[in-house]
Parts: sequence; C-alpha cells; structure tokens
Amino acid sequence: MKKFLFCISFAVFSALALSSCSQNDPYGYSVKNNQIVYNTPPRPAGQQSMLGFSCDPIENVRVGFVGLGMRGPGAVHRFCYLDDATVVALCDLHEERVEKAQQILESHGKPRAAGYWGEEAYKELCEREDIDLVYLAVPWQLHTPIAVYAMEHGKHVAIEVPAATSVKECWDLVNTSERTRRHCMMLENCCYDFFELTCLNMIQQGLFGEIVHAEGSYCHNLDPYWDRYEGDWRMIYNREHNGDVYPTHGIGPVCQDLGIHRGDKMDVLVSMASDAFRGQQTADSRYGEGAYEYANGDNTSTLIRTRNGKTILVEHAVATPRPYSRMYQITGTRGFANKYPNQGLALGDAVPEDAGIEDLDAEKYMSNEARDALMARYQHPITKEGGLAEKAKEVGGHGGMDFIMDYRLIYCLHNGLPLDQDVYDAAEWSSLVEITEVSINHGSMPVVLPDFTRGEWNKSKGVSFAMAK
Ligand SMILES: NC(=O)c1ccc[n+]([C@@H]2O[C@H](COP(=O)([O-])OP(=O)(O)OC[C@H]3O[C@@H](n4cnc5c(N)ncnc54)[C@H](O)[C@@H]3O)[C@@H](O)[C@H]2O)c1
Repeated sequence: MKKFLFCISFAVFSALALSSCSQNDPYGYSVKNNQIVYNTPPRPAGQQSMLGFSCDPIENVRVGFVGLGMRGPGAVHRFCYLDDATVVALCDLHEERVEKAQQILESHGKPRAAGYWGEEAYKELCEREDIDLVYLAVPWQLHTPIAVYAMEHGKHVAIEVPAATSVKECWDLVNTSERTRRHCMMLENCCYDFFELTCLNMIQQGLFGEIVHAEGSYCHNLDPYWDRYEGDWRMIYNREHNGDVYPTHGIGPVCQDLGIHRGDKMDVLVSMASDAFRGQQTADSRYGEGAYEYANGDNTSTLIRTRNGKTILVEHAVATPRPYSRMYQITGTRGFANKYPNQGLALGDAVPEDAGIEDLDAEKYMSNEARDALMARYQHPITKEGGLAEKAKEVGGHGGMDFIMDYRLIYCLHNGLPLDQDVYDAAEWSSLVEITEVSINHGSMPVVLPDFTRGEWNKSKGVSFAMAK
C-alpha cells in the first residue's frame, strides 16, 4: 500500500512538475493523458507561411561566410566552382582563419573578399548592403542567433546542422523567416548523397510500394575530433545534454522519403538513451576523473510515429568505437533498401519489366550489377542537370553531396525557385535535439511534436526539387 501511495504521489508530482515547467511558455509543453504535448502557438500577425516560397531571381548570389573552422573552408572552396555566386565576405573569430580562406579564393583565381574577425564581427557582415546570402558554419549554439540577425538585416541564410538547439530557437527561425520573407535553409547535405537521392526517386516512382518504416542515424566515433572544435564547444554541448543532439543527418533523408510536412507529419516520439559509459571515460581523461558528469548517453534511440501511421527509428552514437554509419534503411510494402555497411536493394514486383532485372525478389538483395543498373536508371534528375553528378565527384565534399547541396541552393536562388529544404524542415529536424532530451529526462515519456507549419503539413504531396523551365 505504502509503495502504491508513493507511486501515485510520484506520478502526480511528476505530472505537476512537467506541466508547470512551461505553463506560461507559448513554445513550451504540458502533460496531457500521460504524454508530453508541445504547444503550437498561432501565427503572429504580419507573418505568412513560407511553404513554396520563392523570391525574384538573383543574377549573381553574393555570399558572406561566417565560421571558418574545420567545415567552413570546404564550403568556400566549393563556392569557387559555382558560376552564379561570388564570395563577398569572410568572417571568423580568428584573423588567421579568415586569411586562410582568402588564400582558397586566390588559389582559384578569385578576388579576395572583405575580411571580418572577432566575436561580434558577423554583425558587420550581415549589415552589408551587398550580400544576398549568409552561410553559417559556426558552433551549434550560435546558429540561430546569427541566422536571426542576418534575416533581420534582409539576408537569406543557409545554416549548418542542426540549425537550432531548442524548440524555442526552431520557432525563432520559423517566425523570423515568415516575418522577414527570407529563405532559411538548413545545410542537410546527407539529403544529397547519391544512394539517398536515387532511393527517393525510386520511392516517388512507386518501386517500394507504400513506405512503412524508415531508419536513419549518426553513428560516428568523434574521438579524433573532440580536441579540434573551437573552444571545446561540441564536447561542452554533449557533456551537458542527453538526447540525440545531432539528429539531422539521420532524420533528413527519411523525412524527405516520407513527405514530412508534404502530406505527412511527425506526430509522436519516444526516446531512450544508454548510460554514458564511454562518454564519461572520455570526459574523465580530458578533464580529470569526476570533473564533470557526462550527460550524453553513448547510444540514443528514438522512435517516431507519423500521422499517416509510418514509423521512423533514429540513432545517435558518437562516443563509442564503431564503423561509421548513417543507417539509411527503407522498408516498403514492395521493397527494401539499406545503405550501411553495404548498399543493398531488395525489390520485387514493382520494378518495371523493361529494366531487364531478372530474379526479382524483395526478400533477397539483388546482385551488385543489377543494383548498379537500376541506380543508373533511377539516378535523380537533379544530379543529371549539366553533368552535376560528375562535377560534384570532382569538386568533392563528402564524396560530392556537399557540392550538390551548394549547387542546388545557388541554382534555386539564381532562378527564383523555392529551395529544396525550407525553414519547416530546418525546424522539424532540429527540434529533435530538445524533444529527445525531454522524452529521456521524463522516463522515455511519449512526446507530441509541435506543428511548425501551423496546420499546413498536408497542403502539398511529397518533396519536390524545383527546376528552371
Ligand atoms: N554537414 C556536415 O557534414 C558537417 C560536418 C562538419 C561540421 N558540420 C557543422 O558545421 C558547424 C561547424 O563545425 P566545425 O566542425 O567547423 O567546428 P569548428 O569549431 O572547427 O569551427 C567553428 C568555427 O566558428 C568560428 N566561430 C566561433 N564563434 C564565432 C563567432 N562569434 N563569429 C564568427 N566565427 C565564430 C570558430 O572560430 C571556428 O573557426 C557545426 O554546426 C557542425 O555541426 C557539419
């Protein structure tokens, strides 16, 4: 009896504690029917939806880069291959990193850009009249504040992943983009990898039947990198937060496959993390035994159910030694695909006869030859445009996908087309950073996700990639 009363009072206390944590927060959550339910506040007056948004074509897209650490200079290099873009300004905390990026421009025969350095120097860059797009590769904690500042100053923004670290920041991006009518794209490069793009094309052509379940992950041992992040920002974030703090490489491509906010919606998730066995060892060896209690579980698994009854599994594992994997697995009513460790297609009766593939059986991987022939046949149209696939492999950036992403961003701005990824993608995918942590911190309680489109998730059908006529 005592135990029963304890349980009841603990449950009541927990419910009160949970519902009170965000009672007055329009972007917070409350507990209803044993679920955590995030608020979806009404759209403030003066804002309009950004679904399908496009603006006037920009003849030459003038770009300012902020953040020139491990990731940023590669983007500067790639932009030197884009005819319809010019690098106008470069910014970092450190003067020498700006100088190194200037040398990249010079090595491509491009003019030096305006250079800025220091903690608040990005403001001067954003305030320039001659910049169309601000491209951010700074620590996660700075993504949203700088992106908001840039949009407030009339700039489109492209933000490295994840675009935001909290649900409040996700709404800041949505609200600012809707109010200023500026594009806000997250740079989710994994959506542009060849296998993922080809599978998306096959899915949209019906080869998998109805998609039932999809998996994506970020399993990457970061041991070689921890010491290289500026000011230790990544370790600090992981040390202080449980949950899937880097979900977008896994969730991005599968959300496109499922048409999330283009006919379906991520509805409810449950997240569970292992303890931080190796994470704690790493923190102990970096800072001294017991200096910090390391929060991020070594393995985080999140299950999401969509409004149309599909499920998604997302995993995050950056502390343990293991082969790299983004998982990427698609289960449909008529076929199956798996990317790691080996790219495999198992497709059956939905493959057209004229594809000439024999012995089709969705319970068996087809031969590598048959897979490659089918992949060539279903190569995504955007990668065929002007020999983009070949050029991307030559320019590089994670095997070419980074260049395809940058190319598409500039192509769409140059042609006045909607971008491939919109601000709602950025918000939905990044919101998992906080929402998975909230679920875990409450005993893996189910969490109902907010609707960043505010009721418009069912307006269009399937992701599309705009092409100039
Ligand atoms: N999409 C991908 O495949 C991929 C790969 C690597 C990194 N990233 C993302 O890129 C971003 C940067 O990661 P990184 O590995 O380059 O980290 P990093 O620490 O090497 O680089 C961050 C840079 O930002 C600069 N910076 C910090 N504060 C600044 C400020 N106030 N103004 C201007 N510059 C400032 C730092 O000096 C540093 O040079 C992160 O969001 C990360 O998640 C994405």
